[in-house]
Amino acid sequence: VDSYIMGRTTAETRRLEIQAEMYAPHTEHLLRMAGIAAGMRVLDLGCGLGDVTMQAARLVGPTGQVIGVDTNPEMVTAARQRAKESGVDNVTFVQAEIPDIPVEGLVDAVVGRLILMHLKEPAAAVRSLRTMVRPGGIISFQEADVTYATSTRAAPLAARSMAWCDDAARLAGSAVCGRELGPILRDAGLDVAGMAVATPATADPESPDLLFCAATVASLLPLIVASGVATEAEVEIDTLLGRLRAEARETRSVTYAPELIGAWAIEAPGDPSSN
Ligand SMILES: C[S@@+](CC[C@H](N)C(=O)[O-])C[C@H]1O[C@@H](n2cnc3c(N)ncnc32)[C@H](O)[C@@H]1O
Repeated sequence: VDSYIMGRTTAETRRLEIQAEMYAPHTEHLLRMAGIAAGMRVLDLGCGLGDVTMQAARLVGPTGQVIGVDTNPEMVTAARQRAKESGVDNVTFVQAEIPDIPVEGLVDAVVGRLILMHLKEPAAAVRSLRTMVRPGGIISFQEADVTYATSTRAAPLAARSMAWCDDAARLAGSAVCGRELGPILRDAGLDVAGMAVATPATADPESPDLLFCAATVASLLPLIVASGVATEAEVEIDTLLGRLRAEARETRSVTYAPELIGAWAIEAPGDPSSN
């Protein structure tokens, strides 16, 4: 069963690229804060196009190694190709579905961005994934939230677009789960060692941030309509980006993207299932 609510189109691939560019410096910062460092062997779960995989690969350097895992074979193929084109050679990619990851031996860290939101039982998955991490190793996830995704001045269309996505995802059981990330790790039996929040913001109405907003609505449109959150006529997807840009210009607002919440924990010595 294909349970990925964002769909698997070229447009969705492009949306993931825009997202990766927007969040890249924030993700690197959160990975560093979590303790990802030279020489580590790291697992990147739900790697998509491999952006986090490649960022982690730069942090672990030539003496380290990162394994990207995704359930979608097209993503795995695309990630391999992009890593090759970028000249990143300390990465490998595996097609597998969480939590059944066919990787030998323990890793120094398990990381993932925007993946727990797609799992029906994220805490149970994290608990199971803990068995793959060596004692003293790192477990670190980054998830988005829209609680503070806003504009500095009233921008009703931007707010409505965000709400369509949040409501549709929630109805599909794939809530944007950043605000739950700390509790999820605790429910998985972990002591959370640290958390931080990063929010891209822009004052430029032509910036990719609004493109990202419209592209996210586009990817979720079938779900938005099917779940009754809004009609196609209300969304008017073909003109949405133009109207978002016009609104930002007219209101002179600064747009805050959905924030990325990072949380990390250290795997304690002993049997994870007993914690
Ligand atoms: C929103 S994308 C995030 C991609 C990447 N982590 C990033 O931040 O750029 C989520 C990815 O998780 C993958 N995915 C969803 N459910 C999965 C599962 N149960 N096991 C492995 N991958 C999964 C999807 O195929 C998709 O590529």
